This record gives sequence, structure tokens and C-alpha cells, in this order.
Amino acid sequence: MRLDKVLGHVGYGSRKEVQKLIKSKKVTVDGKCVVKSEANVNPEMQAICVSGEDIDYQEFYYYLLNKPAGYVSATEDPRDETVIDLLETIDRNKELFPVGRLDKDTEGLLVLTNDGKLAHDLLSPKKHVDKTYYAKVAGKMVPEDIEIFAAGMTLNDGTTYRPGKLEIISSGEEISEIYVTISEGKFHQVKKMVRFVGKEVTYLQRIQMGQLKLPEDLALGEYRQLTKEELVALQQA
Ligand code: URA
Repeated sequence: MRLDKVLGHVGYGSRKEVQKLIKSKKVTVDGKCVVKSEANVNPEMQAICVSGEDIDYQEFYYYLLNKPAGYVSATEDPRDETVIDLLETIDRNKELFPVGRLDKDTEGLLVLTNDGKLAHDLLSPKKHVDKTYYAKVAGKMVPEDIEIFAAGMTLNDGTTYRPGKLEIISSGEEISEIYVTISEGKFHQVKKMVRFVGKEVTYLQRIQMGQLKLPEDLALGEYRQLTKEELVALQQA
């Protein structure tokens, strides 16, 4: 693989930026300075360093982000900041995209990757990957709501939802807290399911996707690479 291509892939910028970097003698391959962008390298076998730091070459990258409210789940947006804007420059250049969408005001677990196949598999309606959400609700959630969620729903506009699992954490006259697990990912689905039983979601957070859980030590807006175990769990979803 060409050296400039490798550096572009790991996030050092456009072809031009990378070529400048190589010309400035900041890049070594197996300890030797290389100044030719077209030099043929094997990033899996050779030690490539930029300014003395090993590059993190992987064909596919998998990140887990604790999405804060206020960011859209897209790679570009004419109006709003996107989840990609939350990444450090080097990761922003990796051509990652979010696996599925959380609403702008929804927080929690979002996987970012450049692996189109994993994304496709996880989002395929045939796969029914479970997603679990924590929600605060205006209004009193009642045991009958659990049965309505479990039966599936058809909205007035004809939208249908497969059965979902509702767990009531707390239920007050004004505010309730719930967990909802659904196997689809339709537009505003949790909010609309709650509205169907006459209540309103006021806060929504995704806490699990397949076997992958939102880590408790990952603050809002922070992200990290998936561990091997987490990736395997996700691939088996
Ligand atoms: N359901 C919603 O209503 N919103 C989300 O962001 C995710 C699921």
C-alpha cells in the first residue's frame, strides 16, 4: 500500500496534507525516514511512525460514543453539529459514520465505524437487534402499558411496531422512569410508543445495543475504541 494512502486512512488528512507531512521528514518506516509518498509499505507488518509516534493502522475502526444531546447522528449537516464533530481531528479524518440514528435530543450509546458491513448487519430489519433505552416520562406509566407494548402497536397513521418490552422503574403521578427494549429502529419509535399510551418522553438515553452496554465510566461526549470482547459481542448480535 502507498505510504500516503496509509497515513490518509489512519487520519492524517487529505492526500496533500499527508504528502507535506512525508516531505517534512516526520515519517519513519521501520526506523528509517521515508520522504517518498508513493513508497510501498505494509502497515500490518511494518512499524510506521509520525513524529515518533506509532500510527494506529486498522482496516476497520470501531468506536463507542456516549452521545450528548444537541448533536445529530450524521456525518454532515448544514445547520447542526454532528456526532463526528465530537471526535479529535485524527479520528474525524477516518471516514467514520454512525451506526443508525439517535434523535438530536437523545443521549447515550452510539457506535461509529468505517465498516459498512457491520453497520448493515446491525441495522438490517431482518436481524432484530435489541436496543434498550432509559427514559423519563411525563405522566404515570401503568402495568397495562406493559401489555400494550408487549402486544405491538399500530399507530393512527398506519405505522406498525413489533412487540417491545417495557419495564417500569418508577411511576409517579407526574413523572415516571422506564426501560424500553425494541428490536426495530423506526423514526422516533420510543417517543411514539410512549405517546401511544398517552404519555410523553422528556428524556431519552440508549443504554444497550445487542450485547453492547453503555459503559458507566464513559462521560457524555466521550468516546473510545471498542474492546475486542465488545466487538465480538456486537458482531454476534
Ligand atoms: N426512539 C426515539 O424516539 N428516539 C431515538 O433517538 C431512539 C429511539
